[in-house]
Parts: sequence; structure tokens; C-alpha cells
Amino acid sequence: MAGIPSEFIDQVLDRVDIVDVISPRVTLKKAGKDYQALCPFHTENTPSFTVSQNKQFYHCFGCGQHGSAIGFLMEFEGMEFVDAIETLANSAGMEVPNQGTFQASNKSKNLYEITDKANRYYANNYNNSTFAKDYITNRGISPETAQIFQIGFAEDKWDGLIKRLVNVNQNELMTAGLLAQNDNGRIYDKFRGRVMFPIQDRRGRVIAFGGRAILKDQKPKYLNSPETPLFHKGKELYALNLARKHSKSTSIIVVEGYMDVIALYQAGFKNCCATLGTATSQHHIVTLLRSHEEVIFCFDGDKAGVEAAWKALVTSLPVYRDDKNIRFLFLPDKHDPDTYVNEFGKDAFQNQLDNSTSLSDFLMKKLSQNIDLNAIDGRAKFIDKSSSYIKELPKGQFRKLLTEEVSKITKSSINFTEKTPVTKIQNIDQWTPVRKAIAILLNQPSLVINLPNDLEISHLKQNGINILTRIIDFCRLNPNISTAALIEKFRGHKTHSHLSSLVTVPLDLNEEQLLLELKDIIKHFEKLLQKIKIGRLRDKKAVKGLNTQEKLELVELLTNQIK
Ligand code: UTP
Ligand code: MN
Repeated sequence: MAGIPSEFIDQVLDRVDIVDVISPRVTLKKAGKDYQALCPFHTENTPSFTVSQNKQFYHCFGCGQHGSAIGFLMEFEGMEFVDAIETLANSAGMEVPNQGTFQASNKSKNLYEITDKANRYYANNYNNSTFAKDYITNRGISPETAQIFQIGFAEDKWDGLIKRLVNVNQNELMTAGLLAQNDNGRIYDKFRGRVMFPIQDRRGRVIAFGGRAILKDQKPKYLNSPETPLFHKGKELYALNLARKHSKSTSIIVVEGYMDVIALYQAGFKNCCATLGTATSQHHIVTLLRSHEEVIFCFDGDKAGVEAAWKALVTSLPVYRDDKNIRFLFLPDKHDPDTYVNEFGKDAFQNQLDNSTSLSDFLMKKLSQNIDLNAIDGRAKFIDKSSSYIKELPKGQFRKLLTEEVSKITKSSINFTEKTPVTKIQNIDQWTPVRKAIAILLNQPSLVINLPNDLEISHLKQNGINILTRIIDFCRLNPNISTAALIEKFRGHKTHSHLSSLVTVPLDLNEEQLLLELKDIIKHFEKLLQKIKIGRLRDKKAVKGLNTQEKLELVELLTNQIK
């Protein structure tokens, strides 16, 4: 994990107090055993941001943001994981161990080197390929613009990159998402015969690629790097680093494609970025709103474009901020920003921007679509529909005004109830025992000492059992570990965000009650394990017969069956 040994992360989290980390940045007030504040991640008038000193964890009941001290710095300061650790370590007077001495965990650093090497290889190919350069020129891109976006070319060869990076470990090339493997185990270049668009992170490091097909009948049109330790589609935005570098504008235009960004950039709109073939995520929106006053989503005018825009709108509601603007630009049918700006020019696009639709207009228009507001039942339908969207908004002026607007339109007085906190919707009683056990141990890691040592839950074939086993192991190693430090162990693992949101669900049980719950679950597991053993012995008895010891074991199991 990012070159820093996990024990060191434990130590850092053990030495710093999340309250000390957050309090210089957000005004915290003591409330019971926790601290509260107005959430720094969304606009609100009453505090729903909570910091638990006990769990070393923060959570906002309004927008759902949560995490450890590390996560807080990453979200609030926009720091990378390693920067966050360094900052915390420095504040605790600790020195981050020399990453060079931790070869095994030095992976990411190597991966950056690999993607960088690949980038240079593709760029070099591009400079030597008239074919690729012609393609880009024909699309109206100047050599200067191509240079800024570091456009490259992957030759139509199975082993162009492999041969060029022959000194690089193939497993690492694979981890970096640059190779593919067929069913026979043959390994080959993932990107072939494609114009390459390097995707850079906030610091300008190349982390992934998008490759556009330029050969006849080549599919898919765009091939993107898979998710890798460096690249998470839901978090990255293409060219955002360039927009920050080259544009002082406080608004940012979000488009769908690589070529859209590049064409707009060349036309003078340098404040552009693109989602990477995925829907706009909440993470995208929060990131963009933090550093810009205005976000303008620019979608194609076709049906798919309108649907994508609506999805983006719905995604943005919970993280809406009164102090920021979100707008939508719908281009005429059959156009994307690239074709539009090439055909109609800069001023026409600027005009489109100036006439873009506000979030509220788009919302209201969509909600009243196909509804007869002159009829009572139509108005009822309208209220019903709008309430579910308005309730997603954080408390604030915008929410209030929209509610008033719905009242006006429907000629009735409406007072939408406050959004039920996300976490309350969960019905803990309906959770599986594994999930409950995980939640309990995450909340109170020290309860692990009550688990019998010989509990072999790994034999149970249930969802999440591996995670529970790992959590138990971590807690046993250090029963005093904090909730936050425990969850940090899973950073980079696909369950990380799931586990951290599990902790935000209030269990409403004191330590004693948690222990009783946990004991019930253990009993349940023991019963299942016993059943499995009995079943196995019975099967064997029917097929091959049992030896003396097995017979005794079966009798004992049957007489001591857990009720
Ligand atoms: P579009 O199909 O609108 O492509 O996909 P485009 O950007 O207009 O491409 P050009 O102009 O024909 O070159 C928009 C974006 O969706 C993703 C890419 O990120 C692309 O830029 N996409 C599209 C894929 O990931 N894979 C595909 O096969 C197609
Ligand atoms: Mn296009």
C-alpha cells in the first residue's frame, strides 16, 4: 500500500488524535462524548458532522462523508494518501520510514515509473508515425495542442511495449494495466493500433491511458486502462490537472470525451475535464465543487446525453452547495462539444455556455414532464415526485426555495420533512450475522477477546466471512486498535468504503449489549460449524463407514448439539 508499511500507519493513527487534526480546520463543539460541527463537505445550517474521539472516526449524517484522520486530510485538503500520512506523522514528530527500504510495499512508486515509461514510449511512437499524426491533424488538433495533452501512439503490434520495456517486470506491467492475457496465458500489449491519451492525476503523474481506435473496423472505439492501484475511474477526471494549470477560470466544464476536452482547449476553453467513460460520481462532483465556483456539465443533445445529465443531477443533489453553481449544457442533437466547436466556432460555444440550464430549471422541467399541473391528481403526482428529489438536498436555502417553488406551482403549502439520515434507513435486525459481527468488532475492536480461540469460522461459506476473519486477526494482534486504524487496514481493498460506511450506522447499543449480540452470533456460528461437521461425518458414514475415532466424534457432536 503506497510504499508505507502498514505498522507505521497503525503507529501514526495511534499517536495522533483525529480531534486535533480536524479542529484547526473545522470549528468543533463538544456534544456528549463526541464532537459536532457544520459539515465542511456540504452546506448546512445545523451541524450533522460528528467526530468520534473514541473511534477516531468522522461522519456526516447529512452528506454521508466519513473516514479516519487520513481520510479527512485526503478529502478536506485534497491530499494524496502518502501526503496525508506524512502530514500526520510530522505532527506527531514521527518520520516516515524511507520508502526505499520497503521494497515489497514500494509498488505504487514503481507503477508511476512504469506508466511514465509507457507514456514516453507512446509519445515517441507518435512523433515517428505520420499515420497517427495525420489522424490527429485531420481532427483539427494542432501539434502544440497534441504536445500539451501528450498524445501518443501505440503501434499495431502484440509486443511493442513489452519489447521496449523488456527490463520491467511483466507482473508490474500487468498491474499497471498495460498488458492483457488471453485464455492460453499468452501475454501481449493491451493497447495496439491506437492513438493514446495519457490520464494524469492531480500532480500530473500519468496513471492510466485511453486509446482511440484508428484502424479500420477496430473495436471498441475507446479502450481505457482497467482499474489499477493508481487508477480509479470514479475518482479521476481526464485533464483536470491541465485545467487547473492552464486556466484561472472559477468555472469548470465537464464533458464526456477525450477529444471534447482537447477540441475545447484548442478553441480557448481551457477549463475543461472529462469523466472517463463512466457516469459522473459523487466524488467527481465534490472534488470539482471544492475548487470551482461553478460546474457546467456539457452533454450531447441526444437521448443518452439527457439521461447522463439527469443522472449527474441526481448524483449531485446530496452534495449540493448553496454557495456554488451547477449548470447543464445540452448541445443540439448529433453534436458533441468537439464537433460543435469545430463546426460553429468559439463564440457559438460561449453562447451555449451562457445559455446553459440551471440545476433548478432542469430539475423542475424534468419533474413536471408529462404531468398536467392543471389537474389535482397531476399536482399530487408532482408533489410526490419532487419530494423524493428535494429530500436528497442538504438543508439550506436552495432546498427551502425549491420547496416554496413546488408549493407555488401546486398551489398548496408543502413542508417536506427533513431527509432521514442515510444511516437510519438500515435495519440492523435484517443484517446477516456476519455483517453484524463485522459491525460490532469495527465499533468495539477490544471485544475480540471474548471470541473462543478455536472458532474456525473460515470453514463457513458465507458472504464476508473472509473479511470477518481478517478483522478478527487484526483485532487479536492489537485489541486496543481504534476503529479508524482497523478500517485503514483495508484501504485499497474493494471493501474499504463498504466497511467504513458500516461504521457510520449507529448501533445504539452499549458495550455490554454489543457483547451479548456478539455472543449470540458466535453461538450461531458454532451451531453452523457443528452442523457442517455432523453432515460430513454422516456423508462419510453412508459412503465408506467411520473409524472408531470418527464414530466417537459423531456421537459427541450429536449429544452436545447447540440448541
Ligand atoms: P463517444 O462515443 O461520444 O466518443 O464517447 P467521442 O469522445 O465523441 O469520440 P470521437 O470524437 O469519435 O473520437 C465519449 C467517451 O466515452 C468513453 C471515452 O471516454 C470517450 O471519450 N468511451 C466511448 C469508452 O470508454 N469506450 C468506447 O468504446 C466509447
Ligand atoms: Mn466526438
